[in-house]
Amino acid sequence: MKTFYDYYNNKVQLSFDNHPFDPEPRHVWVICRFEEKWLLTKHKNRGLEFPGGKVEKNETPEEAAIREVWEETGGEVAHIEYIGQYYVSGKREQLAKNIYFATVKALQKQDNYFETEGPVLLEQLPATIKTDEMYSFIMKDDVLSHSIQHVQQMLENA
Ligand code: GTP
Repeated sequence: MKTFYDYYNNKVQLSFDNHPFDPEPRHVWVICRFEEKWLLTKHKNRGLEFPGGKVEKNETPEEAAIREVWEETGGEVAHIEYIGQYYVSGKREQLAKNIYFATVKALQKQDNYFETEGPVLLEQLPATIKTDEMYSFIMKDDVLSHSIQHVQQMLENA
């Protein structure tokens, strides 16, 4: 388990074990790949981030992850797997979020990308994300670097 502080100085605990904080979290975040690139979305308020959001009623977290990728990027998920979970202890509320790794097989143009402006493809994630205003706060703590490292190890071992 790793412990660090996020952009707003909230405590974050991160683990790549099987659902260590909550068996049924209400939030999901999806590290996405499409054609050898990272697939992000541009949130209208927060900026660039990997897609994600809240799990709806009558939906599993994995179903929510697939839906959020579709809604926020138009990406059709070919493969998705759970990789870890994190727990944010905020001043007013706490939340547990599942992290997935997804491979997208096609990008369909959408009329509406919900709270986002749609897909953004990046060959590399810049080293300056933490100080770059273009990026969302959810990309600015160590969840991102640890998750990318975990995904890269998975890809190397595949
Ligand atoms: P809406 O109900 O969609 O308007 O969202 P909300 O502002 O209530 O946010 P949400 O319930 O998603 O999250 C509540 C708070 O938790 C946010 O204001 C953030 O401070 C924090 N939070 C949510 N997601 C993350 C995340 O991925 N990383 C970090 N570090 N904090 C998060």
